[in-house]
Amino acid sequence: MSDHPRMLLTFNIDTIGHHHAAWRHPDTDPRRANDFEYYAHLAVLAEDAGVHSVFIADGVSHDPDNTHAPVLGLEPFTLFSAIAARTSRVGVILTVSSSFSHPYTVARQFASLEHISRGRSGINIVTSTGDAAARNYGLDRLPDHGARYRRAHEFADVITELWDSWDDDALELDAGANRFVRPGAVRRIDHVGENFRVTGPLNSPRGPQGRPVIVQAGSSQDGREFASGRADVVYTISQSLDDAQDFYRDIKQRAAAAGRDPDRVKVLLGIRVLVEDSGTRAREKAAELQDLLPYEQKLAGISRILQTDLTRLAREEPVPPLPEPTDRHQFQTQLVMIRKLIDRGEVKTIGDLIERLDGGQGVSSITGDPVEVADHFEEWFRAGTADGFIILPQITQTSGPNFLRSVLPELRRRGLFEQSTGGTLKHQLGLDA
Ligand SMILES: Cc1cc2nc3c(=O)[nH]c(=O)nc-3n(C[C@H](O)[C@H](O)[C@H](O)COP(=O)(O)O)c2cc1C
Repeated sequence: MSDHPRMLLTFNIDTIGHHHAAWRHPDTDPRRANDFEYYAHLAVLAEDAGVHSVFIADGVSHDPDNTHAPVLGLEPFTLFSAIAARTSRVGVILTVSSSFSHPYTVARQFASLEHISRGRSGINIVTSTGDAAARNYGLDRLPDHGARYRRAHEFADVITELWDSWDDDALELDAGANRFVRPGAVRRIDHVGENFRVTGPLNSPRGPQGRPVIVQAGSSQDGREFASGRADVVYTISQSLDDAQDFYRDIKQRAAAAGRDPDRVKVLLGIRVLVEDSGTRAREKAAELQDLLPYEQKLAGISRILQTDLTRLAREEPVPPLPEPTDRHQFQTQLVMIRKLIDRGEVKTIGDLIERLDGGQGVSSITGDPVEVADHFEEWFRAGTADGFIILPQITQTSGPNFLRSVLPELRRRGLFEQSTGGTLKHQLGLDA
């Protein structure tokens, strides 16, 4: 079992779902895609169920030719503020691209979110994928993998220095002495680096956590280096229990080698969930989803993450040899994972690959009744694959509430999960001691 006695849980508040055909399923009302009230409803459900945080994913481009995928258009900082006002205990983690954001702006936005949420904020730093994103920020194409991660390191340095540019007790608030701020308690940072020049200090006092929880979500070698050196939480994915165990050990070892307490780097594994009261009904819905996703769309999605065109291949054809990941590969984590499935003979044909990815981008999935789903989480948790999980419902509008209503009590009954009692996000993650 993991060192941590209780499972940490994050619930992804996307309004549609993680199966690419979720919006077409009769369970889904697609008009709720950008309905703030529905996001708020999910966040409140998650808070009431006692999960430790909700997670807001993000991307910074849109393909105008892609007319068959739902567009989730609520910008994360705006959404976070509104959700923070509707909740009081659950942590809120939002995604920021270090490749296309400026650290002074982001440090400032998070300083405000820290105050607004009373210390419940987390920043998921991603390096982004897709040349389309680069073209929205003045570049012709996405910078190479190594360059993106170098920028991510520097980005994290600068935001941290900015948050630390204020002492905890900087506000003196002495009206008699005419001193709002204690002299020397707020300092410039004078950062000069490859990507950024920032004088500082931040123009906002420290929030309740000092700085937000830092999350990292890429599992390439560069991603692991980044995560183990400076993240509080690492998001990852795995298609195999053994690989997840290896990843968990690797992150903890790297953290120790970097002079950190490995227990202060929490590994959370993303799992897509389709849960119904009856396992038979859950499996029927999984099949309905697969039927709703046209063959060409399945192949287009897989081709995108592999950066290899598979769109003309038939179901029974073998998966062609896939390249070794290079600096130009944007989804290194997924490429390495799929190559392993092929090397181990678990995936041979295009049809096998489609089945294994199950309408997603590489995140593993579990389908079943509440006991079957809880069994899966228990097995992976006890096997030391993670300190907790990111719940990614396949069809948000049914599997999301179903998970919270039926699987969580089962995990609690088994002594694996304890309802959060609130406090700062660091406190909820066991990182404030
Ligand atoms: C649970 C989870 C959530 C993620 N959320 C986002 C996201 O919101 N936006 C994004 O651009 N990438 C997101 N990613 C993707 C990764 O940050 C990363 O781009 C991808 O895994 C490739 O990383 P690598 O280059 O280190 O392999 C997420 C990954 C995981 C595991």
